[in-house]
Amino acid sequence: MFEIAPSILSSDFTRLRDEIEAVRSGGARILHVDVMDGHFVPNITIGLPVVRSIRNFTDMVIDTHLMISEPGRYAVEFVRAGANMVSVHVEADNHLQRTLTAIRDAGGQAGIAINPATPNEMLTEAVPYADFVLLMSVNPGFGGQKFIPTMLDKLRRLRAMIEERGLKVRIEIDGGIDGSNIGDIVAAGAEIIVAGSAVFGGGDARQSVADLIEKGTVWV
Ligand code: DX5
Ligand code: ZN
Repeated sequence: MFEIAPSILSSDFTRLRDEIEAVRSGGARILHVDVMDGHFVPNITIGLPVVRSIRNFTDMVIDTHLMISEPGRYAVEFVRAGANMVSVHVEADNHLQRTLTAIRDAGGQAGIAINPATPNEMLTEAVPYADFVLLMSVNPGFGGQKFIPTMLDKLRRLRAMIEERGLKVRIEIDGGIDGSNIGDIVAAGAEIIVAGSAVFGGGDARQSVADLIEKGTVWV
């Protein structure tokens, strides 16, 4: 089983509420919110006030992806603002176990995000404290980039590591996913599929979510 998590980064912010309602009616239950600080990544996006506003009108699961330096300073604030899932980058946090535990203690699901060039082995010690791993399949910072093909094998190895250790950790994947590769990505073991430009990049967002669900439905 897998789910689509539309990333609002590629949505029309002047119509954010309509965009969110469209993806909800297309079958998405999780909403991916990209938080960037212009320091950890070369772009600045949105933060706590937008999460609070979204929380006020939707029952969707809010998944905040913190692409920020020192995420431990803010992670719990995002749970308090209404986020259900909060991921922090392994590359950005010197005290990852502490941050993951704090997110859980605040009532959130804790995620570890990992960049394409960071080996899965960097997750070894912290993964038992996480509810999910967010595998980046592009270098974070922008929507609309191309899926890095070697990430498919990295995903398979991460899936194998989680199975071998008997961990209850879900795998989310983010970056460059569309109808052409979603089938392979689901088959390789991803359970939450983030899609930005494939959902909001033009046309009907509701229909785009429905199409991705159909194309990802593979029988293995
Ligand atoms: C990239 C963000 C992604 C982005 C995905 O740094 O983390 O969530 O919105 O967009 P697409 O699906 O267009 O690659
Ligand atoms: Zn993201």
